[in-house]
Amino acid sequence: MAHGGRRVTGLPLAILISGRGSNMEALIAACAEPDFPAKIAVVISNRPDAAGLGRAEAAGIPVRVIDHTGFDDRESFEAELDEAIRTSGAELVCLAGFMRLLTADFVNGWRNRLVNIHPSLLPAFKGLHTHDRAIEAGVRITGCTVHFVRPEMDDGPVIIQAAVPVLPGDTADELAARVLEQEHRIYPEAVRLIALGKVRVRGKGVQIDDDAPAEGALVNPSVP
Ligand code: GAR
Repeated sequence: MAHGGRRVTGLPLAILISGRGSNMEALIAACAEPDFPAKIAVVISNRPDAAGLGRAEAAGIPVRVIDHTGFDDRESFEAELDEAIRTSGAELVCLAGFMRLLTADFVNGWRNRLVNIHPSLLPAFKGLHTHDRAIEAGVRITGCTVHFVRPEMDDGPVIIQAAVPVLPGDTADELAARVLEQEHRIYPEAVRLIALGKVRVRGKGVQIDDDAPAEGALVNPSVP
């Protein structure tokens, strides 16, 4: 099954990055597990200087750079992106810190086969600087979301969320680190559920077969 340390069976993924690639690394680690039902077909970055590219290469994964600055418009950039994904054989596209907005045409072309991770409990704090804004807003609990992508930014059926407390005196960096730990847990789990065919889009949400909902509640500050 495994070949040269990489799985050769399972749902083929294209992972799109723009930077550090720690969520990509979490997916690479998951795909290296013998029973994980997905494998990575390609990692694509829109930035030649993305640190994640070297990490993917070190893991023996095919990488592509499609530098958006080399294209006249969004459509021609996305045509190249689409071609690279299709050529790789990927059947699920995972945005992992991919910081380009995608057009409705591209998103609709991958409907329910395109997922994203966002560092907030959507629909709260769409967009950038989520942790600064959560602290500024004074919320006690924030978190992260894996969702199917829809044309509107940071919108689409939620697959998994993790809730993370905002602690007194948190800086945005401290909060980001605490949320990131949970991102690395829920992204592989969302991909696993999709790859097993357990996730069905139902209206604005999803239905998950064999769902094991977390019981109780995360309350912050805690209540005795
Ligand atoms: C992650 O926190 C991810 O949730 C966020 O960018 C970071 C990428 O880190 N994505 C977004 O804000 C998308 N709207 P990584 O490159 O180490 O995975």
